[in-house]
Order: sequence, then C-alpha cells, then structure tokens
Amino acid sequence: MAILISGRGSNMAALIEAARAPGYPAEIALVLSNRPDAAGLGLAAAAGVPVAVVESRGRPREAFEAGLQAVLEAQRIGIVALAGFMRLLTEGFVRRWEGRMLNIHPSLLPSFRGLDTHRRALEAGVRLHGCTVHLVSPGVDEGPILAQAAVPVLPDDDEAALAARVLAQEHRLYPAALAWLAAGRVRLEGGLARVEAEAAAGALANPLPGPAALSTQRAQE
Ligand code: GRF
Repeated sequence: MAILISGRGSNMAALIEAARAPGYPAEIALVLSNRPDAAGLGLAAAAGVPVAVVESRGRPREAFEAGLQAVLEAQRIGIVALAGFMRLLTEGFVRRWEGRMLNIHPSLLPSFRGLDTHRRALEAGVRLHGCTVHLVSPGVDEGPILAQAAVPVLPDDDEAALAARVLAQEHRLYPAALAWLAAGRVRLEGGLARVEAEAAAGALANPLPGPAALSTQRAQE
C-alpha cells in the first residue's frame, strides 16, 4: 500500500510504525507527497520506506493525477491511505480507487467536513469531538465510515489542545482501520461499510452524567 501526504506526516509515521509489527496485514511500499517540502518525506526515508514526489503545484489536476497513477501502478500499489493529503482528487481518480482508498479526517463525520475542524467544533460548543477513518468517495470528506474515535472537549480547551487530543486518537485509529481493510474485514452494504471487528462497549459522555450529576448541590463559585 501507499501513503499520500502533503505535510508533517504524523499519521504516516503511526502507520509505518504499526506496519512493522509481525502479522500486520499491509506492507507500506511507498510514501508519496505532492509537495517536495513535506516534512513527512524525511521521516519516511529515515524509517527506510521508499518515497516519491509528484508535484501538484502549477499543474492541471488531470496531469498531476496521471503522474500519481503512473507511480502507484509502477509500484503495484493495492491500497492508498490519504494522511494529511491536501489536494482535492477528481471523481475519475477517486472512482478508480473506490473501496481501496482511505482517508482520516479530524472530526466525527458527517460533522465538520473540510478545514479548521477543531476551531469549528469549539465554536459550535460540541462536548464530544474526534476523528474518522473512511473510504474515499468523490465528495469532500465523504465516503463509507470505517471507524471513529471520540474525545471530550474540555472547558479550557483551545484549538491546539483539542487538536492534540484528537491527533493522539488518529494515531491509534488509522493503523487499525487500515489493517481491517487490508485483511478483507470491510464489506460494503448499501453504501455503508461493515467492519468485522470487536464493537466498543459502553459510551463516552461529557460532562459525566454519573451519580454526582444528579445531586441537588450546585458547584460553588
Ligand atoms: C490530521 O489531522 C488528519 O486528520 C488530517 O490532516 C492532519 C494531518 O496530520 N487529514 P499529519 O500530517 O498526519 O501529522
């Protein structure tokens, strides 16, 4: 499989690390960036993973994607994982990789598609935020959801604190979701993904609706 990046590459690094484990069902054969200055390229090379750059800047989308496709085919890539890949892909390219291309998005989709998800979550006052791994469909941040992780939004959170809490979960969730896809544990049914994996027990609620929440005493100022 190949990982497509545009920047820092922390999710990429988490995938590379996870794939080192014996028995991990996918081999990371390539890290590909559309930007030559992506910091993740250095991390990948240091980890011994082959890297390639197909520049998107100043090129028509079709020419860029033809270059991308040529590199992926030359390396006989079967699965593509977008990890902070900041270039919109055409419907034709997405269709070609349908069911074989994953993305990670820093929100609980379908809430907060697009950019600045943490700022928008804070502005909306949601109490739970998180991340989503999904198969890529032509719309932006659209496609069958494989897995989500939720984190609480805390009263003193700013964008950076919330982003860091979400990112830690991204690094857990993405390697697992990729493994499920690579191991053939994902089936599509009526446009939704079914994943053969252990379901979570219990629920995350924030603030906690435990026994203290039901008392008549109010917090002292
Ligand atoms: C992550 O928050 C990911 O969810 C989003 O872009 C960011 C990439 O970060 N798609 P990194 O390059 O993986 O560190």
